[in-house]
Amino acid sequence: MQWKPEYSVGVEAIDSQHKDLFQIFDDLEQARREEEDISRVIQILYELMSFATQHFDDEEKLMQQTQYPDFLAHANQHFEFKETILNFCQQAVEQCEHSMLDDLMTFLRTWFQTHLLKSDRAYVEHFIEHGIASRD
Ligand SMILES: [Fe+2]
Ligand SMILES: [Fe+2]
Repeated sequence: MQWKPEYSVGVEAIDSQHKDLFQIFDDLEQARREEEDISRVIQILYELMSFATQHFDDEEKLMQQTQYPDFLAHANQHFEFKETILNFCQQAVEQCEHSMLDDLMTFLRTWFQTHLLKSDRAYVEHFIEHGIASRD
């Protein structure tokens, strides 16, 4: 999965965090492809948790600042994402198997389609109206 300019939400700091998340997705894909040690997978998952947490906090701050009407539903999707990733972390630690990576990548691909490309893009117009995002 690679970040493309058309994925931009018009806020540089947020785009840059999205790019970092794509990089981590790529690292996981590589770990799966090359059957890297499960400890490496766990390390990447922790990295994903910490990046995602920071990113979600920043996004939610902007939403609260501008009284985004869908704040709660959006924040709930963030919460569920972190819960799911923690479950995958736990699976990786307990089972020490690469098979969980197939389910993980399927989950991340779906999340990318439903959250990054839908829910995140849904706030762009609202952020533009509040002078936080720009169209180009
Ligand atoms: Fe989001
Ligand atoms: Fe986001």
